[in-house]
Amino acid sequence: MKIKLLWSFFAVIAWLLSSMQSVQAEGNAEAGKKKFYTCGGCHAIEGYTNAFPNYHVPKLGGQHDKAVIAALNAYKTGDRAHGSQPQANSMQGNANTLSDKDLEDIAAYVSKKVLSTDTNVITGDPAKGKEKTAVCAGCHGEDGNVQDKDGKVLNQDYPRLAGQYEDYLIKALKDYKKGVRKNLIMGGMAQPLSDEDIKDISAFYASKRGLVTISD
Ligand code: HEC
Ligand code: HEC
Repeated sequence: MKIKLLWSFFAVIAWLLSSMQSVQAEGNAEAGKKKFYTCGGCHAIEGYTNAFPNYHVPKLGGQHDKAVIAALNAYKTGDRAHGSQPQANSMQGNANTLSDKDLEDIAAYVSKKVLSTDTNVITGDPAKGKEKTAVCAGCHGEDGNVQDKDGKVLNQDYPRLAGQYEDYLIKALKDYKKGVRKNLIMGGMAQPLSDEDIKDISAFYASKRGLVTISD
């Protein structure tokens, strides 16, 4: 009897959690498209780079909605402020003016974009990189899409890495390692990686089918 009660208790909790999730994820993609207009000046131009330091503005098309929201909130709180670097300051300025509803709408819009096989410029060794990603696969998925073999998303909070620009991934991993970008999990993950590891791992994810530049 006790066990039966326990099971119904778990069932209710599971149901509550799943219904909460679907409510949270419900941004309005149409509204998000309009709100994304000013962002497009940097994020909707294929191959667009920033001057100091020189790396590509990250691709957002197909990114998991909650990962987008988490990223924008991190710019707001300063966990992703990159000191005096102008492009990071501008991302903070961009995020600061957005309400929670804006974040959800924008996340809904960008997350619905169809993944692509477009190839990026690769400078590291993807085969060596793959060997070094066993520890990353539990969260980011085997190919960096945060999906299992059947295509089921493992966790909407974890960012897709697949298809992202190699130089942006390199910069992100170096920022975690230096502690410039603050995240408990990734700070620890990046610590043991050498510059060559970072380059090869980034090459591996950048060579996979994944994120796209937003074009409409
Ligand atoms: C002046 C150019 C510029 C504009 C305008 C801009 N961004 Fe960004 N964005 C960047 C750069 C550069 C980065 C990477 C910064 C870093 O290294 O953290 C970035 C990072 C991001 C990220 C994190 C991506 C990831 O993979 O973690 C998100 C999400 C994002 N921007 C959304 C937006 C939204 C939404 C807007 C409009 C409200 C916007 N950006 C406007 C340049 C810009
Ligand atoms: C326990 C789960 C977990 C593991 C394991 C993990 N990551 Fe992450 N990763 C995350 C989360 C959560 C974030 C988002 C953190 C943030 O907001 O900065 C992230 C962010 C990143 C980013 C930044 C993406 C972007 O768009 O800005 C890169 C690059 C990355 N991880 C690479 C790796 C690599 C390489 C490994 C293995 C060496 C790894 N991760 C292992 C959870 C994980």
